[in-house]
Amino acid sequence: MILRLPVFWSRLIALHLVCLCLPWTKAAALPAASESVPLQWTEVAAGVWKATAGSEESLTLLGAAGQPPKLSALAAMSAAPFPFAGKGVVAQRVGSRMVLRFPLGREESVYGLGVDFKGLRRNGTTFQLHVDHWGGRAGRTHAPVPFYVSTQGYGVLIDSARYISYHVGIGVRLDASDKPAAVDRTTQGNDWTDLPRSDAVEASLIGPGAAIYVFAGPTPLDAVRRYNLFCGGGALPPKWGLGYLARTPLAYSAQQVLGDVDEFRRRGIPLDMVGLEPGWHDKAYPCSFEWDGKRFPNPGGFLAEMKRRHVRVNLWFNPYVAPASPLHTKLAPYAASHLVWNGIVPDYSLPEARAIFAEHLRSRVLSADPSMLMGFKVDEVDGGDQWLWPDHALFPSGNDGEQMRQVYGLLVQRILHEHFRAQNRRSYGQVRGTNAGASPFPFVIYNDNYDFSEYITAVANSSFAGVLWSPEVRGGSGLDMLRRTQAVCFSPLALFNGWETSKKLWSDEKYLGAMGDAIALRLRLLPYWYSAFAEYSQKGTPVIRAMPLVPGFRATLPPGKRGQVDLHTNPYANVKLEEVKDQYLVGDALLVAPIASNVTSRKVSLPPGRWYDFYTGKCVGENQVIEVTPPLDQIPLFVRDGGIIPLIPAREWMVEENEIVPLEIRHYGEKPGEYLLYDDDGVTFDHEKGAYSWTKLSASRGPDGSWKGEVATPQKGLPWHYSATTWRFMSAPVARP
Ligand code: GAL
Repeated sequence: MILRLPVFWSRLIALHLVCLCLPWTKAAALPAASESVPLQWTEVAAGVWKATAGSEESLTLLGAAGQPPKLSALAAMSAAPFPFAGKGVVAQRVGSRMVLRFPLGREESVYGLGVDFKGLRRNGTTFQLHVDHWGGRAGRTHAPVPFYVSTQGYGVLIDSARYISYHVGIGVRLDASDKPAAVDRTTQGNDWTDLPRSDAVEASLIGPGAAIYVFAGPTPLDAVRRYNLFCGGGALPPKWGLGYLARTPLAYSAQQVLGDVDEFRRRGIPLDMVGLEPGWHDKAYPCSFEWDGKRFPNPGGFLAEMKRRHVRVNLWFNPYVAPASPLHTKLAPYAASHLVWNGIVPDYSLPEARAIFAEHLRSRVLSADPSMLMGFKVDEVDGGDQWLWPDHALFPSGNDGEQMRQVYGLLVQRILHEHFRAQNRRSYGQVRGTNAGASPFPFVIYNDNYDFSEYITAVANSSFAGVLWSPEVRGGSGLDMLRRTQAVCFSPLALFNGWETSKKLWSDEKYLGAMGDAIALRLRLLPYWYSAFAEYSQKGTPVIRAMPLVPGFRATLPPGKRGQVDLHTNPYANVKLEEVKDQYLVGDALLVAPIASNVTSRKVSLPPGRWYDFYTGKCVGENQVIEVTPPLDQIPLFVRDGGIIPLIPAREWMVEENEIVPLEIRHYGEKPGEYLLYDDDGVTFDHEKGAYSWTKLSASRGPDGSWKGEVATPQKGLPWHYSATTWRFMSAPVARP
């Protein structure tokens, strides 16, 4: 007979046996299971070094994204030394964890580690990077990208599909070389902190190990550029993607959608894309990926009507496949051990499963009119825990639930991106969960949060992570919708998400005019946005730039001292700094300071150099904090000295493929200016084969003080879609008759 002991007792006996076997030692300095792991650094691309701590797992973030690095663009950047030369990066195995340690200087600030809503600077914080909804624990976000950038001008990526824990400048080690001295709280209360500064960024994950990539600068912006280029360069949306998107209510029919589109046109509000929410499927949550016969009896006819109105269509889905869907049988062999909302979860780390899904979309969904169905909204790939599969779920590839949680959004984006690329048609869509390696994917993150200031922080944070983020407008008072509309029009995707509100843009006529103006300005700025995206694509430079990426800007200040300039005198004060997280640059020249509906004025921190009001051309100051009280129809916008902003005339939908339009070029300030204007056909991937142009625009002053603008001759045979050009010198004194 086998004696069965209750689990608790058998564990207790086992523990005692282990203790009896252990040698009696004095207090050990480190746990016995700690061992150092060698790191061998190799330069894998210009200014990018790799070392593998332990061994890499077969599923990684960059591997899941699967996009080739832009090696020649990296090589074109200036040479830079290995940032950690002579400073120790340490890898250590502690029990089941691989621990990685990177030096952190006293005056060094760290940014990145994903898109959250709370703050930008990471010193003094702990994170567990984990794909999830917003809020809650630090590190659980829609884009928990394990890449950080330092004010010392370098970046670090840990390429692992595991949850990664970070201690940034916190968790002082016994053997640290630069420890703060202990302070007596009773008598030195002002200098005491519960968060003493450590001299390292420490990260750890459970698993055999991971690759580490280090990106040289010399500036923080250069490190971000190298990261984006190594991921494959940034996304370049089609021109129409930079117009305006309206998402319709959950169960709208074709007729209702067309009715809304006609209302936009009747009222002269620009519109380029409509997003259909779950009701286009005949089943959703889980999804069928089949048109609903009642709401959309004739998808081809509906799309022909949309084409007549110049409006493209974007389709919502979550990737969990309904039992009644024809896709279910095809993907069943690739299903994970657990369901989501009773739909199967296909293992898209397997190329066969990716191919089946892409083929179904092509033949059953997009076939209705591939020229009009130009994007998807990929929902629910982020979490929360109670909806998605558990960490111990098993996928046919052998990957577990933790790994697949970290990469699922990446894998779905990859399928869609590769599909559209194969069709030589660009797309622009939305996604709710993503990770490192996503830079080339033309997807913008969104979520169900609705806090205005948190949204703006997220826009700024996206610039450190190689992703795009857009706030949403989903209803509220007329004034609230107006201020939010202005903010989304200065984010990567200008949209209204009407999936569950009875509100329309025209619900409150009082604010409609100003909302229309904001959207019209969005379209007018196409040449500026498009050139900024081309820089992102070809040079890795993020379109949005949080203030710490702006050279010379003091992004952190002692508490209550915004605009003053005394930093880091006391290392203990390190964690209490105030930061500027409610404004950012779009491209290099435009400073955006969104304003919420519950205030009438706000502070704006101007970087070094003079800045000019976008609307009037008047100088507003330099390297200082100003207070602005914008009129209702304006979002605060400022242009740097010498800045050039190209615009097109107001219109109701974006320029079509190869359409030619006039150009207005504005120059701001006292300094001469130079600007490179990008162009291509606006819709295909031919730009990847060289079919694009960069044309120099320059503004200078003649000996008599008068301004002159020049447009270099566009390169022959290359795309250039501008006819007459008009210069406006916005800051020049108005000539008196
Ligand atoms: C949510 C999503 C919303 C909307 C909704 C439709 O998950 O965040 O934007 O698409 O699903 O059911």
